[in-house]
Amino acid sequence: PRTAAVIPAAGRGVRLGPGAPKALRVLGGTPMLVHAVRAMAASRAVSLVVVVAPPDGAAEVKTLLDAHALPDRTDFLVVPGGETRQESVKLGLDALPPGYDIVLVHDAARPLVPVDTVDAVIEAVRDGAGAVVPALPLADTVKQVEPAAAPGDPEPVVATPDRSLLRAVQTPQGFDRATLVRAHGTVTDDVTDDASMVEQLGVTVVTVPGHEEAFKVTRPLDLVLAEAVLARRRL
Ligand code: C5P
Repeated sequence: PRTAAVIPAAGRGVRLGPGAPKALRVLGGTPMLVHAVRAMAASRAVSLVVVVAPPDGAAEVKTLLDAHALPDRTDFLVVPGGETRQESVKLGLDALPPGYDIVLVHDAARPLVPVDTVDAVIEAVRDGAGAVVPALPLADTVKQVEPAAAPGDPEPVVATPDRSLLRAVQTPQGFDRATLVRAHGTVTDDVTDDASMVEQLGVTVVTVPGHEEAFKVTRPLDLVLAEAVLARRRL
């Protein structure tokens, strides 16, 4: 079955500080989005990349991708995104031509994911999983809190979940296309990833090992780390 990757890249990146939309910030001289597209195209299985651009920036993103070489085997499409990540992914799915039965959803904000991780996700979907997420154990202990009574008040801790059973999940998340489309057509709750929508359908989601370099560039320190990872790769 053919595989396509949808890359939601329509976020503003407010937590990263002022500047261009996050996906267009430069890492090692190249926009983060270009790194993310190349990371998907690095997999020989991926023959189409659908980039979901900021609604007012689709033409700019198209020009950008035309200017950066991708492998000959990989096509790309650019579509305008929505108000939320979930809406943006849905708009990307709506633009997928027939024939792509495996779909990856990959955050533009994870520009450095290694190709072995991408291939492991695809492999697990090929082996029959409806949904696959790359996952890593947590370094930190996690607390569940109650919302503060008033802004600035302390947040009371209510529970400490068993860390050995928790995982931080990354992207690309991989799906049987029909399952992901059904999830996006059914689930309307606010979610932060696509696999959770598939979970709500009652379909089993499985994990494969994630990778440290698939971290999400969210805050200013993440840019420092991303530059360091790129510099190390160039050695
Ligand atoms: O906000 P968060 O870090 O979870 O965003 C993850 C990814 O979703 C980013 O690549 C961002 O560009 C994308 N996104 C989007 N449309 C939105 C909000 C976020 O495509 N409205």
